Amino acid sequence: MKKLFFIPHVLFFISITFLVTACKKDEEAEGIDKELLDLASSTSGFTWYKNSASFLPKSSASAHPFSYLRTRYNAIASAALDSNGKVIDSTLFPEGSLVVKELSNSIGGLDRYAILLKRTGSPHADSKGWVWGYINKDKSVAEPASKKGASCSGCHAQTGNIDYMLMNIAHP
Ligand code: HEC
Repeated sequence: MKKLFFIPHVLFFISITFLVTACKKDEEAEGIDKELLDLASSTSGFTWYKNSASFLPKSSASAHPFSYLRTRYNAIASAALDSNGKVIDSTLFPEGSLVVKELSNSIGGLDRYAILLKRTGSPHADSKGWVWGYINKDKSVAEPASKKGASCSGCHAQTGNIDYMLMNIAHP
């Protein structure tokens, strides 16, 4: 009898745990993540990589789990691009640079933003002054900026990167 009495309690705790986990998964961007999402959502004043808004198939070196991508640079970051829209060799991006990679599983779609914002001195910046954002278009956070690109910067520091940028290598 005693055992049966506990069953509703156990069920109650299971459902609470489920609810908490479910809510966490869909957590909406707030704070720095919300700011990055807002910055990335605006498209005016940006220059596209290689001056082209065409969708590129993701490279084999990419860990980003979407089939297509295209990358754009805000007016400040554009100073690090040459006239062909490629990143200038060994350049350092100026303070305030915003680089936005749009990720999608279909040409013309948009599922997630991968974001790099140069804001030296931000509590979320890594040792090179970059803040890393990974946010879905539906506002849920794929990887919070508070992690300072922990799962990103190793790969982005590979040979041939330019201030972490890999577009030149992956899409020459
Ligand atoms: C295993 C390697 C790898 C990891 C891990 C990785 N990336 Fe990337 N990333 C790439 C490659 C390769 C590109 C070039 C475009 C492409 O083919 O996807 C790229 C492109 C980008 C760009 C466009 C700017 C540029 O030239 O690099 C941004 C922004 C970006 N990634 C952000 C992130 C963030 C944020 C994370 C972590 C949540 C991350 N990346 C994790 C490989 C990686």
